[in-house]
Amino acid sequence: MELKDQAAITSGSAFWATTAAGDVPAITLTDGPHGVRLQVADADDILAGQPATCFPPAVASGSTWDPELLKRMGEALADECRAMGVHVLLGPGINLKRTPLGGRNFEYFSEDPLVAGVLATAWVQGLQSGGVGASLKHFAVNSQETDRMRVSADVDERTLRELYLRAFQRVVTAAQPWTVMCAYNRVNGVYASQNHFLLTEVLRDEWGFEGLVVSDWGAVVDRVEAVRAGLDLTMPGPDDAGDQALIDAVTTGRLDATTLATSADRVAKLVAKSLVATKTTYDADAHHALAREIAARGIVLLKNDDDILPLRAGQRIAVIGESARTPRYQGGGSSQITPTRLDDALTALQSLATVTFTADPAEAEQIARDAEVAIVFAATAHETEGSDRESLDLPAAELALIARVAAANPRTVVVLSNGAVVRTTPWDTQVAAVLEGWLLGQAGGSAIADVLFGKVNPSGRLAETIPLKLADHPSYLDFPGEAGHVRYGEGIHVGYRGFDAREQEVAYPFGFGLSYTTFSYGQVRATVTDSGLELSLEVTNTGSRDGREVVQAYVSVPESRVRRSPRELKAFANVEIKAGETVTVPLQIDRADLAYWEIRLNRWVVEPGPYEIAVGSSSRHLHTTTTVQVEGDQARIPLAATSTIGEWLSDPRGAELLGELFASMAAEGAGGMAGAIATDPAMMQMAIGFPLDRMTMFVPDSLFSPEALAKLVDAANN
Ligand code: BGC
Repeated sequence: MELKDQAAITSGSAFWATTAAGDVPAITLTDGPHGVRLQVADADDILAGQPATCFPPAVASGSTWDPELLKRMGEALADECRAMGVHVLLGPGINLKRTPLGGRNFEYFSEDPLVAGVLATAWVQGLQSGGVGASLKHFAVNSQETDRMRVSADVDERTLRELYLRAFQRVVTAAQPWTVMCAYNRVNGVYASQNHFLLTEVLRDEWGFEGLVVSDWGAVVDRVEAVRAGLDLTMPGPDDAGDQALIDAVTTGRLDATTLATSADRVAKLVAKSLVATKTTYDADAHHALAREIAARGIVLLKNDDDILPLRAGQRIAVIGESARTPRYQGGGSSQITPTRLDDALTALQSLATVTFTADPAEAEQIARDAEVAIVFAATAHETEGSDRESLDLPAAELALIARVAAANPRTVVVLSNGAVVRTTPWDTQVAAVLEGWLLGQAGGSAIADVLFGKVNPSGRLAETIPLKLADHPSYLDFPGEAGHVRYGEGIHVGYRGFDAREQEVAYPFGFGLSYTTFSYGQVRATVTDSGLELSLEVTNTGSRDGREVVQAYVSVPESRVRRSPRELKAFANVEIKAGETVTVPLQIDRADLAYWEIRLNRWVVEPGPYEIAVGSSSRHLHTTTTVQVEGDQARIPLAATSTIGEWLSDPRGAELLGELFASMAAEGAGGMAGAIATDPAMMQMAIGFPLDRMTMFVPDSLFSPEALAKLVDAANN
């Protein structure tokens, strides 16, 4: 390909199309992630999409904890893409929900990288099995909207690896998405779009990513730097000035010609792959039904006093709140889908029971009083890409409505519609039941009725903690940052990890969700294998309804040499269990998932020692535990002259050598402080934090001279 074609093909020709160059045609990329938003031809509004199935956004599909469902959603999305001529769908979004105020939390799966990674892997596999490419986004650390185009997410390397990159790593290695989309923000000072560490060293060299890196729309600041860092395709286009800058950079030798040629080649390969799939049609009814199934499975039953739910046919029900009639079913911004149809809960409920409805707060008390059960539909205000939320609270009018209805009828059920968790305290104590209805996509209204009436037994689980109040949240003091930087001060203690580390009460813990049936757990058994841990336990449905349980395995490393969160989710299984039945649930934990990122060795390390495994139905409802001994990796941290006496002594070889040295000092009757350290345990305690090379000031030259130290270090490490 000629240089000018290489430059042209590495930027778009239009908002949603790549550039045709030479014999390589153009392809279409479009949003994503929970539906296909193909812009209506000639519409000025880039958000005006042709009708497509609006599946539940990730906040709801993530709460299913069911990769099988996500895979089916991916397959259905591929059908729609092919019907609409879309080659790459811009999703899934897998950034961690670092703060409950994140404006795009509704587009992301979880505060936990395992949940996000497992679900996104299934989604990508489903989509790509239909011949349509995914775009894993936003790489990386795009966990807030405030100043999103510039802010530097300042994250220490261990946190970056263990939390913010972990889900990306899982999806890239397990599913090879055709594309990865870089984020707008900077990561530790460097724009993600020109971050060589992220785009080349980590993504390609370490993880073996084989696809193409596309920019988020408008994320490229300097095209030459971006290509040099590993970015292949700049969107949107055209970008004539950027094309020319690339040509100039190659011509003058500022940019290696093979770097640009490689990126151009990746675009050509993506195009070739994209053009294999044939156009098709899709079954809109079947997709609507799938959207309903996923939505119902994503609903989380938070509270159900006296088994007020499920409702029974023929009951007199008061339905209160505008969101019953006008559903809040998706968030704002680039993921906004024009649905093929839209179910509202009111209509769905009217077909099942005798319903009186108002939205009028003045009437609400009266109709609630006259009904057997009152259902309040309460929604957050608009949540959108581009802005973070200002508060964790429901709008004041919704809170007032809940209070009035609850006072009129104690048999009140609240159904929430929200893109990220809201504060449930203290109003949840005044009502009998709470259904977390998230944003559920176009079939959400029917799905809510399915769960309220028990057609679907709820099995959704919280993929994010509901705190008692905002100030409790681990991210609270370091969000949204200032002066262009946001410090990820809570480090590895993101979400439930932080609440657990500080032993804080929460309103509803990570992993939590009730069912209309009950489950009991047998004793977990664990075996250590070369590839990790194999767990197995029996779970019994002890109630009278068929149901699903999400069995969750958390691991602790009590003797870790680094700071760890008290519990980390390492495996989960979504199992269907008939009433009265017992099933054996196997769970696998990959050895790689037991590792922590050792910054001194710049790699993952599995530590030796006891690993405690706790299995339960949420991060705080742990029913059975066991402990296994794991053999560690070879991961000795080399000693240096700058290592402290304490570090020397905690290393077996170092302790031996230093012991010999101190023994000889004591034997020679060395005086002063050095002698005291060698003979007096109290002095040793005081000197434990001294780097060895600082000892020169206190001991005879011959013992701690640079030459003697170099020999000692050599003897310790070789
Ligand atoms: C969003 C991406 C989206 C792109 C194209 C950006 O503003 O951050 O998620 O895919 O626009 O609409």
